Order: sequence, then structure tokens, then C-alpha cells
Amino acid sequence: MEFIKVTPQARPQVALIELNRPKELNALNLQLMQEVAAALKALDDNDEVRVIVLTGSERAFAAGADIKQMANRTAIDMLIVDQFTVWDQIRKTKKPLIAAVSGFALGGGCELAMTCDMIVASETAQFGQPEIKIGVMPGAGGTQRLTRAVGKVRAMEMVLTGQPIRADEALRAGLVNRVVPVGQYLEEAFRLAASIAEMSPVAARLAKESVNRAFETHLDEGLHFERKNFYLTFASEDQKEGMAAFVEKRKPDFKGR
Ligand code: HXC
Repeated sequence: MEFIKVTPQARPQVALIELNRPKELNALNLQLMQEVAAALKALDDNDEVRVIVLTGSERAFAAGADIKQMANRTAIDMLIVDQFTVWDQIRKTKKPLIAAVSGFALGGGCELAMTCDMIVASETAQFGQPEIKIGVMPGAGGTQRLTRAVGKVRAMEMVLTGQPIRADEALRAGLVNRVVPVGQYLEEAFRLAASIAEMSPVAARLAKESVNRAFETHLDEGLHFERKNFYLTFASEDQKEGMAAFVEKRKPDFKGR
């Protein structure tokens, strides 16, 4: 891996992926995105890992897709390169994925954070879709996920003016889960990850799928999907363990089976 660092056991059962292209503010070139997708797939397949944290540096989570790599491309070049297949792979990660964001999360960087399931931000984080300033528009979910997260008028302003919002505004708008001082954002993401890693991985996977379904379908279909996944949890040993532990007044020991 040239542009990322992967630590499968950064904390017990919690893996860390660090974007590591500091001079370019973690600009997301194709290889970096392919590395992220490959790492997520490997961690998804690793039974020792229950939750994944994705982070950048203190200065930049990621300043967007690599403008220098794209600058001279034609539409047909873009079509053939088909960078979004790799984004679709990232979206299909089964384990809970937490973005720990500090500094710039712009363009594709903001979209990558929003592709994660939760976002822990440092006070210096700024989220924006500045593509309009370079004559294009968001292409990896910015007009869709941002709008769902912060509502139409805020998303419209961000996408049409390119102006970013600060962490505190992102918190008020519902884009991020929490904002902490810059020295603590990664630890806070690990704390959140650890609290999820204690839960049944089977239930976490089915619950994640179900929450995501809320963005993909109408209510009736979503409720139906949720109900099936709820029933499916009763096929797991973790369900027996979780309910027995409650009755016996002890802490459950979930095995992910
Ligand atoms: C390529 C980038 C980059 C990017 C920064 N750099 N962002 N290179 N692609 N997106 C490089 C700069 O060229 C520079 O390298 C180095 O990183 C440091 O950046 P500076 O501009 O010198 O830093 P600063 O003055 O602090 O400004 C930071 C910044 C600015 C505000 C984040 O770099 C900026 O506006 N970047 C572009 C943000 C953007 O437009 N993102 C959207 C991209 S389009 P050199 O070698 O020159 O010193 C997009 C589409 C997504 O994301 C579509 C789906 C994937």
C-alpha cells in the first residue's frame, strides 16, 4: 500500500485505515481509492476485526479527488476509468465504518466521510463540496448524501457556492455525530468503535444494512426489510447469549455467530 496505512488491531477488534498522502492533503487519486477499497474488503473478511475507523491527518481528512489527475481527462476517459466502481465497493463494506475527520473534508473527501456510517469530527474539521469552483459538481454522492444529511437548502447552498461549513455547523446540521478538540478526535472515534465492537457483530451487520435501506427505498419496503433482518438475528448464537446474559444479570460475550 503506497498511499494508506492499515493497522488491523489498532485497538482490540478495531482496525484503522489512515490516508497517507500528506503533501497533497490526501487528495484521492485512483490508486489511493483502490487501496482503501482493498483494505476495507480485507478487514471485512478478517474475523478479528469488528469495527473500522478511517482517518486522514490533522490538517486534512482529504482535500478531494485529485484535480491534477483529472484535469485533462475527457468525459470518455472518465467513463473508461470508471472510478465510481471503487466507491461502490467502499459503500458495500459490511462492518461499521467510522470516519475520524480533522481539517479539510472537501469534495470527494466530504463524500468519502459521508460514505462512512458515522463521523467523528475535530473542531478544525470543515466539510464542503467546492467542485463548482473548478467548473464541475459533486460526483461521488455529494448531491445525494449531503442533501439527506443536512436538508435541501443547506446542501443547495454548499453545492452551489462551494462554501464549506465548520464542524460546529456540521454538528447542528446532523452531518456529524460529535465534535471534539483536535487532540482527541481519533481517540473519540476509537471510543465509539469500541462501544460498537462490544455488540453482536451479526446484529451490527444486519442493523447497518437496515439503516442504510432507509435511504434506498420507501417506508413499507424498508420496514419489511428490517423485520426480516430482525427475525434473522434469532438464528444467531449471539441472540441466545445476549438474552441469556440479560436474564442472568451478566455481561454478554458475543462471538459473531
Ligand atoms: C490535487 C491537491 C488537492 C486536490 C490540494 N492539493 N488539494 N492536489 N487535488 N484536490 C495539493 C495542492 O496542489 C498543493 O500541492 C498541496 O496539496 C497543498 O495544498 P495548498 O493549496 O497549497 O494548501 P492550502 O493553501 O492550505 O489550501 C488547502 C485547500 C486547497 C483549501 C484544501 O488545496 C484546495 O482548495 N484544494 C482543492 C479542493 C477541491 O476543489 N476539492 C474538490 C476536488 S474535485 P502543490 O504541489 O501544488 O504544493 C472532487 C470531485 C469528486 O473532489 C468527484 C468524485 C470522486
